[in-house]
Parts: sequence; C-alpha cells; structure tokens
Amino acid sequence: MKKINIAVLGCGRIGQMHARNVALHEMTSLACVYDINEEFANKVASELGVFAVTDDSEIFSNANIDAILIASPTDTHIEFIEKSVAANKPVLCEKPVDLNINKVNECAERLKNNSVPIQLGFNRRFDPGHLAAKNSLLNGEIGDLHQCIITSRDPGIPSWEYLKVAGGQFRDMTIHDFDLARFMLGEEPTRLFAISNALIEPKIKTELNDSDTLMVIMETASGKQCNIINSRSATYGYDQRVELFGSKGMVISDNRKAHEVKKYSTEFVEKKEPYLNFFIERYQEAYMNEITAFVEAIVNKTSPTVDFEDGRKALVLAETAIKSIASGKMETIN
Ligand SMILES: NC(=O)c1ccc[n+]([C@@H]2O[C@H](COP(=O)([O-])OP(=O)(O)OC[C@H]3O[C@@H](n4cnc5c(N)ncnc54)[C@H](O)[C@@H]3O)[C@@H](O)[C@H]2O)c1
Repeated sequence: MKKINIAVLGCGRIGQMHARNVALHEMTSLACVYDINEEFANKVASELGVFAVTDDSEIFSNANIDAILIASPTDTHIEFIEKSVAANKPVLCEKPVDLNINKVNECAERLKNNSVPIQLGFNRRFDPGHLAAKNSLLNGEIGDLHQCIITSRDPGIPSWEYLKVAGGQFRDMTIHDFDLARFMLGEEPTRLFAISNALIEPKIKTELNDSDTLMVIMETASGKQCNIINSRSATYGYDQRVELFGSKGMVISDNRKAHEVKKYSTEFVEKKEPYLNFFIERYQEAYMNEITAFVEAIVNKTSPTVDFEDGRKALVLAETAIKSIASGKMETIN
C-alpha cells in the first residue's frame, strides 16, 4: 500500500510528537512540517529528515501532500480545517475544534456539504485499555450499561501563561472526557450538572474565573449515568481510569505503569513503578492508533470514526457544564 504523505502544522508539544509518529507509522510518511516559529519547524524537520515550509500555502497547493495533521494552537484549527477541505486534503485536527461554539457552528454550516474526511484528535477513544472496556460492553460481558465513571487527573498544574489562554478547564481538559463519555455511553447525554472550584491554586478562580478541580454528572434519555472527575494536579501522577458498571458486571480500564515489578525492602512492600507520567507516554499507542484510523478512513473512503460533529458535540457539553456552574442547577443539553 502506498503510504499516506502527511504534513504536520504546528511543532509544539503535541506537534513534535505527531510528526515523529507520522514518520514512524508504517502506513504514513511525513511530508513536511510547518510552524510560524521557523526555528521550531526547522528543528523538527532536521531531526526527522524532512523539509520545513515557511508559508502554509505551500502545503495546501502541494499535490504530493495527501493529508494534513493540525497540531497548531486551538484558534487556528478552523482556518486550517477549511483550507484543508478547500484543497481536498483529508485532515486530522487536534481537539478542541475551537473554544467558541458559535464559530464551530458557523464552520459546521459552511462545511455541511463537505465530503473530505475530518477526524478530531480525541485520542483516548483509541487507547487499548479504554477500547477493550468498550468492546467488553459491546460483547455483552457486563450486560446493560448503568454507570460510566471517568477519572482524569493531570500530574501537575500547567503554566499560568497556558491557563490564561486555554479557554477554561471544561473546554480545554474535560472536553476529552465529554467525548469519551459519549463514546462509552453509546447515546447522547440529555441533562448535566457540574460543580467546580480552584482548590489547588485559588488565583485560578479569583483572577481567571476558572477551576482546577471539577465533577460532572450526566444522564442519557434511557437513564444511563455518567460521572466525570477532573483535577489539574494529582500528586501521585497522571490518573486516567474508566469504569463501566452494568447489569452483569463491571470493567475497569486502569492506570498504566512502565512495568508491573513489585519491590520489597525493610522500608516498604509491594512498591511499584509510578504511573506513566503524562499524555505523550500514557496515550502513546492511542496516538498511533488514531493515525491508523485516519489512514483507514482515507483509504477505505469511509467517514472517520470520530469526526467534526463529535468535536462540536463535546464542546456543547462543555458549554452546558459552564451554564450549570453559573445557574447552580441541572441543565438540559441542547
Ligand atoms: N489530544 C491531546 O492529547 C492534546 C494534548 C495537548 C495539546 N492538544 C491540542 O493541540 C494543540 C496544540 O497544543 P500544544 O500543547 O502542542 O501547543 P504548543 O503551544 O506547545 O504548540 C503550538 C505550536 O504551534 C505554533 N503556532 C502558533 N501559531 C501557528 C500558526 N498560525 N501556524 C502554525 N503554527 C503555529 C507555535 O509556534 C507552537 O510551536 C491545541 O489545540 C491543544 O488543545 C491536544
């Protein structure tokens, strides 16, 4: 099979990782990289043996580039999605689509007749453990799903610079869990209640009107329940678990360590490795698997399994949670 030649836009934290993954993946080749910071782009390009472009139009007009991976800041996503579609190049875009739901709705309207594949970077759907939990549910092993509990705690609070522009915890962080909840529940939540606070860094509340610690409960039309638990800082590491509880049993996709060796001494027993530190290590296979899914959608001419509309719906849940915080009430999801 001919490899899909992909250009990566944005060479920051996640863009560098995606560029390496695209270069390593057996179904893809890295065409080139682009970053408005030429130094960043040149560094990644020379490491991976590709060229860096200095103007994004060189990418969209290049007939040798089959597809685009957008890993630039969130406020550039809509522009680059629309440029990719106009150039007839399938696109894998990092989450979220945008921080502004009106802009996302307007973009959805402009793209309503689009047939170019747009995949959203909700990588957690592709984590082997989370997928095994979902497959166990689909195989009937836990009977009818009653409750889904998603715990997602980061190992440490991000920088103040990051928090100022991130768009708030619900849109920046919980967005992953809203998507995972929809994926696991298999139906749309219809009502939602949220609580949030800044228990780690009070300035996040007083100066940014944001939170670092939150919980969401949601219910679907058929009565399935979901609880999302988020913290920006867990002292023991990156805490990523999904629990599905059903009429016949329960399945848990648990935290991961580098290995399962237990150590014993005069000071301790059963001491284990720490959890894989953060998203790039913890979800390494998931990021590779999302590229596989992207290529399969392109080659088989099928819709991506997680698409623009999933990105839009996750943002609608984030907006509803923000509304629930303001009203102090359970809110209906429109
Ligand atoms: N799926 C995930 O697990 C995950 C994890 C982290 C970040 N993200 C998302 O990825 C995106 C990037 O996040 P990050 O943490 O890598 O950010 P970052 O700030 O580390 O990197 C962004 C890069 O984009 C470059 N850039 C800025 N404007 C640009 C433009 N107009 N064109 C091209 N490049 C431009 C910057 O110079 C920088 O190198 C965000 O939307 C974020 O929400 C997703």
